[in-house]
Amino acid sequence: MLVLGIESSCDETGLALYDTEQGLLAHHLYSQVALHALYGGVVPELASRDHIQRLIPLLQQTFKEAGRSLPELMGIAYTAGPGLVGALLTGASVARSLAFALNIPAIGVHHMEGHLLAPMLETEKPQFPFICLLVSGGHSMLIRVDGIGRYQLLGDTMDDAAGEAFDKTAKLLELGYPGGPEVSKLAMQGRSDRYTFPRPMVDRPGLDLSFSGLKTYTLNTWQKALQTGDATLQTKADICRAFELAVADTLTIKCKRALDQEGLNRLVVSGGVSANREIRAKLQQLMAKRRGEVYFPRLEFCTDNGAMIAYAGAQRLLAGEEEPLTFGARPRWSLEELAPI
Ligand code: KG4
Ligand code: ZN
Repeated sequence: MLVLGIESSCDETGLALYDTEQGLLAHHLYSQVALHALYGGVVPELASRDHIQRLIPLLQQTFKEAGRSLPELMGIAYTAGPGLVGALLTGASVARSLAFALNIPAIGVHHMEGHLLAPMLETEKPQFPFICLLVSGGHSMLIRVDGIGRYQLLGDTMDDAAGEAFDKTAKLLELGYPGGPEVSKLAMQGRSDRYTFPRPMVDRPGLDLSFSGLKTYTLNTWQKALQTGDATLQTKADICRAFELAVADTLTIKCKRALDQEGLNRLVVSGGVSANREIRAKLQQLMAKRRGEVYFPRLEFCTDNGAMIAYAGAQRLLAGEEEPLTFGARPRWSLEELAPI
């Protein structure tokens, strides 16, 4: 079954063709980073307008690269939420109209389910059940996954998501947007023995995650450096290192706790922040020590992309899920509302 995947929930237009027998055939991504960098963050209206311009050329490019044609398509998967409503509607409109014209089914995919299943695009796929650490720009979640659509939320974002904390830290250190990769790059030059940042909520029971305090700690540290005439690039790098280590440690402690609580030894890490070098290393160490398994998507599938949407949609279409012709977008949408298949 040949399925087209369309991702347009935020600032990336992603298109992919996935064949349920042959796997991923082609994928293309257009990032709007340069467009929004000027404003220090995503401007929703600009995002929607840009998606409209990119969707069709990217779609044509993806078909060309895969060597397939529109009549071969058997289903279309598009991101239906959560995300920016205008941006979501651009992808939904293209997906729905194309499906109507070709008389094939289209299905709205939950963006976070796409992230959660992204490691399934790799040759070595995780078996169910597993614990998933989903860390993106808008979410930090720990989920027990017993199958596709069988999700139990164990811990959630209390305030800033992990990616949001990276982005805000970058902003206050004037490192540009998006912040995660910038903070991570500078952290490589930072010293780990200069500052020790707190590990939020690790001394409290439970699996919820909170990163806004850490962001404030970063702000205070930087302001002190400004007051004492120590606001150098090296200080920024040292702060980035301390911040990154604190996030990585906190996530590692919470993953360990979730695995222990659920009696599992298989971990899946996905979402934009799972691209982080330090976080990947710390979680790999944790799982090696426990003699467990850990799975990450390849770097290009950690952040938003069309391939994960095509994969998630293909699984639901294969299971016979259908949608009526009416469609909308769901800016807010809980993973736990999804139907098991
Ligand atoms: O999954 P994603 O592309 O979009 C959402 O669904 O939110 O995640 C984007 C987030 C941003 O906050 C970005 O700063 C962060 O992922 N990110 C990173 C890295 N690469 C992207 N954070 C830390 N280290 C990275 N290398
Ligand atoms: Zn995402």
